[in-house]
Amino acid sequence: MEKFIIRGGAPLCGTVSVSGAKNAALPCLAACLLTDEPVTLCRIPPLSDIFAMCDILSGLGCRISRPFADEFCIDASHLTACAVPYELAGRLRGSFLVLGPLLARHKKVSIAMPGGCAIGARPIDLHLKGFIAMGATVQNTNGCIEASCRQLHGATIYLDFPSVGATENIMSAAVLAQGETIIENAAAEPEIVDLANFLCRMGARITGAGTDTITIRGVERLHGARHTIIPDRIEAGTWLAAAVATGGDVTVTNIIPDYVKPMTAKLSEMNIPLTIGEDFIRTKPVSSFKAVDVKTLPYPGFPTDMQSQLSALLCLSDGISMITETIFENRFMHAGELCRMGASIKIAGRNAVIEGSKSLSGAKVKASDLRAGAALVIAALAAKGDTEISDIYHIDRGYVALDAKLRTLGASIKREPE
Ligand code: EPZ
Repeated sequence: MEKFIIRGGAPLCGTVSVSGAKNAALPCLAACLLTDEPVTLCRIPPLSDIFAMCDILSGLGCRISRPFADEFCIDASHLTACAVPYELAGRLRGSFLVLGPLLARHKKVSIAMPGGCAIGARPIDLHLKGFIAMGATVQNTNGCIEASCRQLHGATIYLDFPSVGATENIMSAAVLAQGETIIENAAAEPEIVDLANFLCRMGARITGAGTDTITIRGVERLHGARHTIIPDRIEAGTWLAAAVATGGDVTVTNIIPDYVKPMTAKLSEMNIPLTIGEDFIRTKPVSSFKAVDVKTLPYPGFPTDMQSQLSALLCLSDGISMITETIFENRFMHAGELCRMGASIKIAGRNAVIEGSKSLSGAKVKASDLRAGAALVIAALAAKGDTEISDIYHIDRGYVALDAKLRTLGASIKREPE
């Protein structure tokens, strides 16, 4: 186990390039199971969650090579299993995304219930609702979901909630179903669009990705393809929050600014000057900024994956902010740790009231999940004195070489054994 030691107070300055999006890479890796031809995925972020997904694919018989640090070649021509044991599935929520492709290609799959962050119950009922509507038989046996079918057929599926994972899983299964599938009230996140683009590159017929209604016309088979994953919009937003928190001047490059708009719109509401270019966003140093209210919503609303990081920033605002977390039921675990650093945060159900203060102070804190860990890093960079953040394995799940990138921006951060 490792920890970060961060000495706060240095404004971040310079340029940082964003890696590929973890939450686009995971469904695309799972979708490689849909074809018996080799697939190459580029700009895959070398993160622990990605390697966990690769272990799952290898366990199913995929051959994986990695000619470059962020380029993965997957050959699923000789699948040898259709089961994912708990030891592998329990390591990440994204493991469940192999269910749809395996069901479509193999007609049979057994996978242990998924793991993931402690941010909420993380139900899978909508995933299963889709598969059942397409003709699969599904049962939960000893903590494993077992699904089988003779041949998936098209269906119209209404998602009670625009679930990202359910949309991805059902879309990936429907590409090989017989007939047309329509997903209504679908998630519209950029990662859904990226997955749809990848599937279409493989020969799938998908329209409507990025809207609330996605239509998939099933085809006989998919062929190999080469696809580059979109940049990580949450990493980009995290860098912007860190730059503003430290009064820095940072250019975040290699991004799609449109995908970061929910965050940049909020920063503008806080009177933070930004320069937005074709593939970069630059922050200008500010000594103070306004408090704002934030409600997390499905895309294009403010992303829940940026809620912790913005909350950390708002601890330094010049007023009182109200945060409403509508997506997950337990996503304020960063609040207690930020209060140990002098923040003033009061939680009431899905709401958090943050009273901004001039400064935070270093302390010993613990990361509880991926984005909470990122929030603690942001607070530590701005705090007076030293902060020790333990359980940083959570952070390594979603940020490539965060400490190294921070050091290039002038931060004082060390990674040490616990
Ligand atoms: C994806 O999780 C992301 N993970 C999460 O990012 C992200 O926070 C989330 O989407 C929302 O944007 C990956 O892509 C690997 P959901 P997922 O299904 O698919 C309800 C991070 O930090 N729901 O949209 O699990 C339930 O209430 C991670 O990178 C059902 O009711 O999200 C849940 O709270 C954290 N039934 C809400 O939807 C279902 O079958 C959002 O879940 C599924 C979901």
